[in-house]
Amino acid sequence: MNAPATPSSLERAEKLQGMGCKRKRVEDVRFTQGRGNYVDDIKLPGMLHGDFHRSSHAHARILKIDTSKAKAVPGVLAVLTAEDLKGVNLAWMPTLAGDVQMVLADGKVLFQNQEIAFVVATDRYAAADGADMVEVEYEDLPVVVDPFKAMAADAPVLREDIKDKKDGAHGPRKHPNHIFNWQVGDKDLTDAAFLKAEVATKDLLVYQRVHPCPLETCQCLVSFDKIKGEITIYGTFQAPHVIRTVVALISGLPEHKIHVISPDIGGGFGNKVGAYPGYICSAVASIVTGLPVKWVEDRIENLSTTSFARDYHMTTEIAATRDGRVTGLRVHIMADHGAFDACADPSKWPAGFSNIVTGSYDFPVAHLSVDGVYTNKAPGGVAYRCSFRVTEVAYAIERAMDIMAQKLGMDPVEFRMKNFIKREQFPYQSALGWEYDSGDYHTAMQKALDATGYAELREEQKAKQEAFRRGETRQLMGVGVAFFTEIVGAGPSKNCDILGIAMFDSAEIRIHPTGRVLGRMGSKSQGQGHETTWAQIIATEIGIPADDIAIEEGNTDTAPYGLGTYGSRSTPVAGAAIAMAARKIKAKAQMIAAFMLEVHEGDLEWDVDRFRVKGNPEQFKTMSQLAWAAYNKVPPGMEPGLEAVSYYDPPNMTYPFGAYICVMDIDVDTGVHKVRRFYALDDCGTRINPMIIEGQVHGGLTEGYGIAMGQEIFYDADGNVKGASFMDYFLPTAVETPHWETDYTVTPSPHHPIGAKGVGESPNVGSVPCFANAVNDAFKFLGSTHIAMPHDAYRVWQVAENLGLHA
Ligand code: CDP
Repeated sequence: MNAPATPSSLERAEKLQGMGCKRKRVEDVRFTQGRGNYVDDIKLPGMLHGDFHRSSHAHARILKIDTSKAKAVPGVLAVLTAEDLKGVNLAWMPTLAGDVQMVLADGKVLFQNQEIAFVVATDRYAAADGADMVEVEYEDLPVVVDPFKAMAADAPVLREDIKDKKDGAHGPRKHPNHIFNWQVGDKDLTDAAFLKAEVATKDLLVYQRVHPCPLETCQCLVSFDKIKGEITIYGTFQAPHVIRTVVALISGLPEHKIHVISPDIGGGFGNKVGAYPGYICSAVASIVTGLPVKWVEDRIENLSTTSFARDYHMTTEIAATRDGRVTGLRVHIMADHGAFDACADPSKWPAGFSNIVTGSYDFPVAHLSVDGVYTNKAPGGVAYRCSFRVTEVAYAIERAMDIMAQKLGMDPVEFRMKNFIKREQFPYQSALGWEYDSGDYHTAMQKALDATGYAELREEQKAKQEAFRRGETRQLMGVGVAFFTEIVGAGPSKNCDILGIAMFDSAEIRIHPTGRVLGRMGSKSQGQGHETTWAQIIATEIGIPADDIAIEEGNTDTAPYGLGTYGSRSTPVAGAAIAMAARKIKAKAQMIAAFMLEVHEGDLEWDVDRFRVKGNPEQFKTMSQLAWAAYNKVPPGMEPGLEAVSYYDPPNMTYPFGAYICVMDIDVDTGVHKVRRFYALDDCGTRINPMIIEGQVHGGLTEGYGIAMGQEIFYDADGNVKGASFMDYFLPTAVETPHWETDYTVTPSPHHPIGAKGVGESPNVGSVPCFANAVNDAFKFLGSTHIAMPHDAYRVWQVAENLGLHA
């Protein structure tokens, strides 16, 4: 039981810098001084460097690989091809999605820039020179880059290795280029709802292929110690323990001989979850040469080979009554997975959590069907700042709701408000099988409307539209609205595992005799500020100042087993483990306090940083006194020491949500836009550090802006990848980035020990449909219904051209 707050307790609470305070990021002390320790900063004696020769063709048979000139380059020590890897049974590797992937091209190439040969040399430049000198003879094969065409009867067979396989990892395949069909919901009831629908919409909504594009590319440094039979792998891994398990399964080495270390990471966003050919080749090269081998991707390699995101082609239908109540949702997704199914999803979810597509709305019935297909594009399908395909479907539902509102002649906010799940309906069972934990959508939406002066914005827009029609202006004004519901915290063991390992997370907290604390977690920050915020949770829970708490992550030798950090799962899962471990410590400390104060445990109450005797506040023991006592004055029969471990299996996901509003002006003659305002209200339950949340939201909004307004990894008909460098892939800088207004409501999660939900990916999920709705909103009074992303100036200009606005 907690004691009531007093001026003294409030003052002591403030000193702790616990939850709710804007504690400055402790990791920034090293980052802002260039003292971070990234993979490329690590140099081991005798270290070699690897580089790939990559395919210039998108689909071709390999007739010959000649490595002789490469081997003659000074400094080159070895050149590996698929034939070499076959000797150690590593020419192909398993993917997280139950498929297999070529490590180095085996007989054919399936996408441009695919890895063909790995050149190992004494320095990076020699490795690159050697890679250039590898000669490959190709025989061209027909290329497929369109997922719909990939399923045509006469489409070329891409994956000859599995062409006769009737079943894939997720059930029957209907075509040699088919990976899976996944369905959820009640098809019959949904079809019936559409038969009865007074109004229905049906639109193909494409979320184009993009890339997480972290500032630091993927990289590793592998050192095999032949004498000890041990392997040490430094890497940019978002999930180091999972990587260690994969290495153990592939190599047969016991876990204690595999040391996986993720040092500082310069952004992950899902790109650093999977296992890539660079890791396998570096490991083999280290075993072959007996020396450490480093592999560092360059930007083009990163954008065009190690994973991609989205590429979902979503046919989205809504059924509604004429007065604006939704009665059914039917969605079919064609999911382009590229050459291999290397999607990073929990094992049982081939299309991630795309069955959150009902969003924030009370659909009585829904049906979702997803077909995964192979094309001649890079593999991946990672959760780019997203909880496993939530971003894609959030775009689909938020665009579709706007389109239906337009058809009904309703304001998009009014239509949303009419169909929101109501506060009293939580916990809410969705038609596609999720139990939403908590929400208060009407309050959040209303706050957003009031903060932005929505009604006045609509009036201003109307006046501008009239002026446009009169020819007095060439500017259009769009007001974009999006209301998203996220699903984060993968996940409960009942439905989430990776390679059979339940998706729990972990914390180990050790209190030293002097009251200082070491916390080790299964999560791994890539810039999210865990060293700052995890200490804040512990500070509040056990009353030791956050500055006295050190947080460690990322070393599999010392950290408890965790499933890693992606999909905003850290706070919902690892954050919960931290609170639970801290509570175990507090419970033991209470027993020690009772012994020392010679009272019954029940006679004590917790007061910020101490246990005090109820009714006698002068009688107390502080947590640091109890830490000391834990090592010399424990009650008879109690083990000394003060530490605890928690492995937390969450009972449910958490469901953060948000209301976003964007005001955008578009010049029809140039297609150039200006984001005049962007307001983002996020509800992530209990807020651990408001400043870090704001930083997370700013970053995610900037990414969302890049995606909606310009990014695309595009493939031409020959499979040539475009948009794989910063010359043509739009990465917003401070110059382009709009000003962000942030706001919040707090609806705690009822099942999370501290009521917190994740937040990191919310702004990416919510902002993309908001920008897209703003662009569409600008044009819809001219008869336009759906404009596809990305909305770069040229494409927006084309929309105006097609609408006859340049005549
Ligand atoms: O899994 P990941 O760390 O990427 O995402 P997250 O759980 O959303 O957390 C991102 C950062 O925001 C962490 O530093 C969290 O501690 C912080 N956060 C917070 O302060 N309060 C919340 N309710 C959620 C996250």
